[in-house]
Amino acid sequence: MLPQYRVNHVDRLLSPSLVIFEEIVRDNLKTAIELAGGVDRLRPHVKTHKMAALVKLQESLGLHKHKCATIAEAEMIAQNGGQDVLVSYPLVGPNVARFVALIKAYPSTTFRTTVDHTEAANALDSAAREAGLEKPISVLLDLDVGMGRTGIDPAKADELYALVNSLATLHADGLHCYDGHQRTFDVHQRITEATAGLQSALDLRDRLISRGLAVPLFVLGGTPSFPAHCKSQIPGTECSPGTSTLHDASYATKFPDLPFQPAALLLSRVISAPRPGRITLDLGHKAVAADPVGARLVLPDLPEAQLGGQSEEHLVVDLPEAIAANYPPGTPVWAIPMHVCPTVALHKEVYVVRGGEVVDKWEVSARNRVIGI
Ligand SMILES: Cc1ncc(COP(=O)(O)O)c(C=O)c1O
Repeated sequence: MLPQYRVNHVDRLLSPSLVIFEEIVRDNLKTAIELAGGVDRLRPHVKTHKMAALVKLQESLGLHKHKCATIAEAEMIAQNGGQDVLVSYPLVGPNVARFVALIKAYPSTTFRTTVDHTEAANALDSAAREAGLEKPISVLLDLDVGMGRTGIDPAKADELYALVNSLATLHADGLHCYDGHQRTFDVHQRITEATAGLQSALDLRDRLISRGLAVPLFVLGGTPSFPAHCKSQIPGTECSPGTSTLHDASYATKFPDLPFQPAALLLSRVISAPRPGRITLDLGHKAVAADPVGARLVLPDLPEAQLGGQSEEHLVVDLPEAIAANYPPGTPVWAIPMHVCPTVALHKEVYVVRGGEVVDKWEVSARNRVIGI
């Protein structure tokens, strides 16, 4: 195994389990802060780890801005010292009232959210009025800068921004652009494309400002477009990578330019050797995310492995016979997940390794959809 993933007394650890290498998480966070140009320009997405202990670690490094997708993640952040939380996910149905309840329950935290439709703005306004909120809610306009998932077309967003600003319970606080479609392998090309992708948002920003509206925040992107947006000189820029905190095999392969290292590995064991040249691991799709289709993990110690069928608790692996013979049932096998964020959410708690020793267990608190509210 690579030296950075050395763990003593592996025989004491349950499998399948997720193991977090704390020094690597710290390095990833420090690298992100450095790239962004300081903690004020970084708003990491918490969906990657969903862990209270990791929120505290981020706060201890000065990271005081957080992004999340669920009310449970937002509540977990507030409970663990987060003072500035952006829920960048469309709030509909009961989640509108839950968001307002969150604001009331944690008065020392500033909660912000995004809207991309007049319905959403009006629903939030109604809920805030009903609850008698004392301060206007900070709202960012979610812009579709090419991904086509959520967001309003920047060319048509002027009036929505003005509407949000005109509602007594809301305060238009800036723009949110998530460009998860920027996936070009070559980093120079990716930087060019991701930078150009923001032009329509910048034009909107100029129009709003010339109309006398303030646009304080400009929240940008994820991990692949981070090398572009971390250079942005636009006032109010905040970069919002998430995966970079734990990183994974997918991004490490698709974007080798990114200076992050996988910090969460799966510990599995051989549970069967059903025929020569084949081993079966306890790594079903209840232990590792079922996306992407095909290879869902990398086995760093077994580069010749061919991944076969996967079921809920089993993963079949074919190997040259001579190698498979060295892996009788019970042998530990480490895996790097391709997609770490949904993999984390499959685990109730994770082992934490520091200096090669398991020193703690962290709960994946916000894998639950509801914490208190
Ligand atoms: C709105 C939003 N912002 C930021 C991110 C973080 O992106 P990444 O996982 O590439 O770091 C995501 C990822 O899904 C997202 O949906």
